[in-house]
Amino acid sequence: MKQQINIGLCGLGTVGSGVVKILENHQEQIKYKLGCEIRITKILVNDILKKRDVAIDPSVLTTNVDDLIYNDEIDVVVEVMGGIDNTYTILEQAILQKKHIITANKDLMAVSGAQLLQLAKENSCDVFFEASVAGGIPILRSLSDGLASDRIQKMMGIVNGTTNFILTKMTEEQLPFASVLKEAQELGFAESDPTADVEGLDAARKMTLLANLAFKMNIRLEDVETQGITMITEDDLKFANQLGYTIKLIGIAAINDGKVEVGVEPTLLPNDHPLALVKNEYNAVYVYGEAVGETMFYGPGAGSLPTASAIVSDLMAAVKNIRLGVSGNSYISPQYTTQLKDNKERYSKYFIRMEVDDETGTFFKVTDIFANQKVSFEKILQLPLPNKELNTAEIVMVTHTVNKQQFLNCIENLSELSVVKKIISYYRVDGEE
Ligand SMILES: NC(=O)c1ccc[n+]([C@@H]2O[C@H](COP(=O)([O-])OP(=O)(O)OC[C@H]3O[C@@H](n4cnc5c(N)ncnc54)[C@H](OP(=O)(O)O)[C@@H]3O)[C@@H](O)[C@H]2O)c1
Repeated sequence: MKQQINIGLCGLGTVGSGVVKILENHQEQIKYKLGCEIRITKILVNDILKKRDVAIDPSVLTTNVDDLIYNDEIDVVVEVMGGIDNTYTILEQAILQKKHIITANKDLMAVSGAQLLQLAKENSCDVFFEASVAGGIPILRSLSDGLASDRIQKMMGIVNGTTNFILTKMTEEQLPFASVLKEAQELGFAESDPTADVEGLDAARKMTLLANLAFKMNIRLEDVETQGITMITEDDLKFANQLGYTIKLIGIAAINDGKVEVGVEPTLLPNDHPLALVKNEYNAVYVYGEAVGETMFYGPGAGSLPTASAIVSDLMAAVKNIRLGVSGNSYISPQYTTQLKDNKERYSKYFIRMEVDDETGTFFKVTDIFANQKVSFEKILQLPLPNKELNTAEIVMVTHTVNKQQFLNCIENLSELSVVKKIISYYRVDGEE
């Protein structure tokens, strides 16, 4: 049995430095648990001369990826450099050289994870990617091991810290999206180009990975209906709150009768729902299993040491497999063909705000549209708008559970109704089952 496992680290930035620190600072406990040592043999970087916040022997650094891939000493490649195409090629080559892979790269795994896992299986290698979803929260291993005996029916996740930070600030301080985004950028919680976060793409990538693991399918990123948070206003948050709800960017993955829905969209949750209480940059994943019922996993979704802790735990799992000679079964490959629900099979309550003529008969005309689609209401608010001369009022409603097609039909018919001046916003409502 090997007494030392050698790793090649691709990247020495935020996460890579955390990996170096954990391997150094927790070295005694890691060795005790594994029965062997882990040593970093080579580190791939862009710039060898760059100042680092960890002490590294300069001879370990390289800009030549071949020093890792074709290095017979290296057993495991840890990829924490990011990027998709070039990184895929590096990992593909590493697997072909029989190296096990640990990655934090959700962008890559959401697009090419299935190919990498297949290639790894054919080459008896492991590919672990715990850090790619919800940073330090051990959610992938909880799904694949801790809940292995159960059948997962539904997951709801706050899996993007940037948007959760923004929505928390907007709600608590009644500030508009643009000014909170600016503050988030100044504090380092949002990138200078925040598109992938605020448009929901980052969350969609993570939900793809979660859904594939939970439902054992090959759901593609393009199967995930995605909407971000840029259109949410202070009034949306205020009226939602008046009705007892908090708006969060929720990734949903649910299965019924073998058909799945996976999406990311702003969603109203009851104020006392555990996910509504997840604030600032924190992440959480709520999982409903047929046997276990409700569980929730909560913690930091990013950051140097939290993310590195997930990486090193993956590394330890790979090392155990290497020593036992059982590599190549990282996560079970897809068992079922993906079958997506259509809009008639996706059920939810909906919150809707509209501006209407403030005159006799308006309310009847509006409710008639909903009645024609067999949609009834759970909560209604009617408020005169501040500028009386405009003769307008605002109606805020929450429907009972309907299918998405019924609700979209209502939206279409309302937009053709002359008394409806504007449909201001509408969002899904969840968490009340
Ligand atoms: N940051 C987080 O909290 C977090 C959380 C979860 C997942 N992740 C994922 O972890 C990965 C790394 O994120 P990070 O925040 O650590 O990134 P980062 O701070 O930008 O570090 C990237 C590192 O990779 C190196 N690198 C990048 N492209 C390279 C190339 N083509 N050739 C050689 N070296 C290259 C850089 O070298 P130089 O230092 O020489 O420039 C740097 O050391 C990404 O996939 C990210 O999505 C990050």
